[in-house]
Amino acid sequence: MKIIVDRKRCCGHALCNFTAPEVYLLDEQGYNSMGEFIVTEGHEDAAMTGALACPENAIRICDQTREEKD
Ligand code: F3S
Repeated sequence: MKIIVDRKRCCGHALCNFTAPEVYLLDEQGYNSMGEFIVTEGHEDAAMTGALACPENAIRICDQTREEKD
């Protein structure tokens, strides 16, 4: 599972970090600092929960499973 954080949309609500601190880190100003990354195995549910918690829809989930199988 790949996550893409659109940092231009991030307004620093910090709900991603509040709900999934093991996945989403914030910078010194409280903005999501993750950019684009592959979720560590076992953290997929937390990554999804954190993404859904963002009121700005700044976090996009790319499930690569299908692409890898093709
Ligand atoms: Fe930013 Fe959304 Fe998290 S606005 S800090 S990505 S909850």
